[in-house]
Amino acid sequence: DTVEWGSEDAERDGFDHYMLKEIHEQPAALERAINGRITDDNRVHLEEFPPGSFADVGEVHFLSCGTSNHASVYAQQMLRDRGVPAYAFTAGEYATTPAPVSDDTLVVAVTQSGETADTLASLRSANERGARTLAVTNVVGSTAAREADDALFIRAGPEIGVAATKTFSSQVVVLALLVERIVEDVTGEPSAEAEALLSAMRELPSQVDSVVRESTAASLANRYAERAGTFFIGRGVAYPVACEGALKFKEISYEHAEGFAAGELKHGPLALVTPDTPVIGVFSGKHDTKTLNNVEEVRSRGAPVIGVAAETSDHVAGAVDEFLPVPETHPDLSGVLANVQLQLVSYHVADLLDRSIDKPRNLAKSVTVE
Ligand code: G6P
Repeated sequence: DTVEWGSEDAERDGFDHYMLKEIHEQPAALERAINGRITDDNRVHLEEFPPGSFADVGEVHFLSCGTSNHASVYAQQMLRDRGVPAYAFTAGEYATTPAPVSDDTLVVAVTQSGETADTLASLRSANERGARTLAVTNVVGSTAAREADDALFIRAGPEIGVAATKTFSSQVVVLALLVERIVEDVTGEPSAEAEALLSAMRELPSQVDSVVRESTAASLANRYAERAGTFFIGRGVAYPVACEGALKFKEISYEHAEGFAAGELKHGPLALVTPDTPVIGVFSGKHDTKTLNNVEEVRSRGAPVIGVAAETSDHVAGAVDEFLPVPETHPDLSGVLANVQLQLVSYHVADLLDRSIDKPRNLAKSVTVE
């Protein structure tokens, strides 16, 4: 017998799926995302946007779909924490029922491909109404990059797997840089967090690498596949990570999953919680005590809980059934590391169930219809 070794296998670099390859590519993608964008004294340096570029910004609207929307909600939280009004909208809604814009509204379309129809429609609506627009995208020359007033590239490299992985990490990091640029321009000085955040960002690629190499997510797969449902919870920047974890889980495993703001769980979803609905709690290091209260609520109903938190978080490790640690970082970057653990949980569950991981049923890499 001969072993067939097609060009696809070669392109997958020996990985079983593009998704797994792209999960492993994240350290390199993040290096490119930040390359040249942090000065030696830990200030933001965006070639496209010199200091003062956003001095006139009063509020920020993010427009995006799917995984890109979760990166947008993450950035929305960071801007609000730093005192700048920010609103993340799903593009399909904004295209038909847009929020009012004014002279000081900056509209940021976040789209990996730069070709998602809903995102382009909402971007056009913002352009027509006179807002200043910016595309944050992976594809130079994409429609979003051409139609927005400005573009900022995430430099993740091509992503083949339909389910976005490395582009989420790169979006969050590039949006964090944009956030610090905007805050510095609007307030006249770097945010109180900037120096610590940017210094931590330099370590992020190697920390992602250690999560990818040391994760024990594969060993959980057989106990967490084929359950009645899987719920993901978090607050602050861990909330969009919980949503992204659930989206990845349903996209590639075809199993029911939902992401909730941790505080919302008791307002309805708790009715679904049983010993057959694992709950995955994402902890950023901020507000952990409150999320632990929510973990208690579900554990007392018999749900098994997986906690994803900094490796030093004994308060979390001691309160959950399974613990997936990530290296200690700035709380605003913790979600990137936690998300890598969630990517691996979804990947291994989908692999165990023999799903079509790189091309899930009914889904497309880029959705060009509204
Ligand atoms: C599709 C893909 C998702 C992606 C979304 C937005 O639905 O399957 O993975 O997040 O489009 O794509 P974009 O290119 O705009 O980021």
